[in-house]
Amino acid sequence: MKKLHTLGLMALLSTTLVFSHGNVTPQPVDTKGLAPLGTAWLETNPYVGNETAIEIGKHAYAENCARCHGLEVVSGGVAPDLRYLDPGVEGDQWFMERIRGGAVRNGNVYMPKFEGIISQEGMWAIRSYLFSVKIDH
Ligand code: HEC
Repeated sequence: MKKLHTLGLMALLSTTLVFSHGNVTPQPVDTKGLAPLGTAWLETNPYVGNETAIEIGKHAYAENCARCHGLEVVSGGVAPDLRYLDPGVEGDQWFMERIRGGAVRNGNVYMPKFEGIISQEGMWAIRSYLFSVKIDH
């Protein structure tokens, strides 16, 4: 009995650890409350400064990106610190290229692709959140 108890505790502890860094499987994002964007991909973020988008993006980031890019966008060095992303149109485009396609080099998946899992609305919501914590450079 005692051994079982310890195992249960360990399972509980490791679950807590995993969750504190977000889920491992890419998660869809609930974008209720945001204006739908249609099917064409936009070149620039339509939700800059939109409080609802920032809030949705914050949760979506914690679930999908934090385990590599760091909790609250402070990178621990595993992946680039997204607070330094270009705040302008170039940053918008680079962000979309990466989040849609991921990053694969020499057959190694450094970052998974999120196209087909997170909607365009969810992606721009994450960009809005990142923009809200950006560091000027
Ligand atoms: C499994 C780890 C992992 C996850 C999860 C992940 N990324 Fe990444 N991401 C990386 C790595 C590693 C790179 C650098 C890739 C390279 O150097 O080619 C990167 C690069 C990027 C870049 C380009 C940054 C730059 O400075 O060039 C953006 C933007 C980005 N990720 C956004 C996101 C977003 C948004 C999410 C969540 C939806 C996410 N990533 C989830 C690992 C991850």
